[in-house]
Amino acid sequence: MIRQEKAAVYSSIRSELAALLKGLEDPVAVMASAAAVIHGQLSYSSWTGFYRVVAPDLLRVGPYQGPVGCIDIPFGGGVCGSAARDERTYVVPDVHAFPGHIACDAAARSEIVVPVFAADGTLAAVLDLDSQQPAAFDEEDRRALEDVAKLLRQHL
Ligand code: SME
Repeated sequence: MIRQEKAAVYSSIRSELAALLKGLEDPVAVMASAAAVIHGQLSYSSWTGFYRVVAPDLLRVGPYQGPVGCIDIPFGGGVCGSAARDERTYVVPDVHAFPGHIACDAAARSEIVVPVFAADGTLAAVLDLDSQQPAAFDEEDRRALEDVAKLLRQHL
């Protein structure tokens, strides 16, 4: 997708989400709506969803769109667990080159995982997007999805 198109898609995602989330403080409804909006508009994402922090150092799958995802991921495991442990975004152009990558979908080639913080500043979840295209995600996706995470923060 060319740069200009990405910018337009993310702008549309942000406004749709902002309208949907107005006054909403239910984490399941917030995450489910975000996964549906992003997945519906971002044509190159084959899996879009959340892994939630459910215990110290443990992520569990949350609302998502796409093929069945694995259930539990320990902090430090795969791309999601690395992003949770380090509380930073991981952009992975080639998942086969990422040590410890967890292959839920054998067709996945690239991935981005963004930390999602709650209003109190603690890590609530990570937002995970997979693509069947190599190097689908770039700095523009990182900036835009980190903005989405900031928007969600006010509702978690
Ligand atoms: N590939 C991820 C696991 C989650 S699935 O892609 C839905 C990872 O390595 O953390």
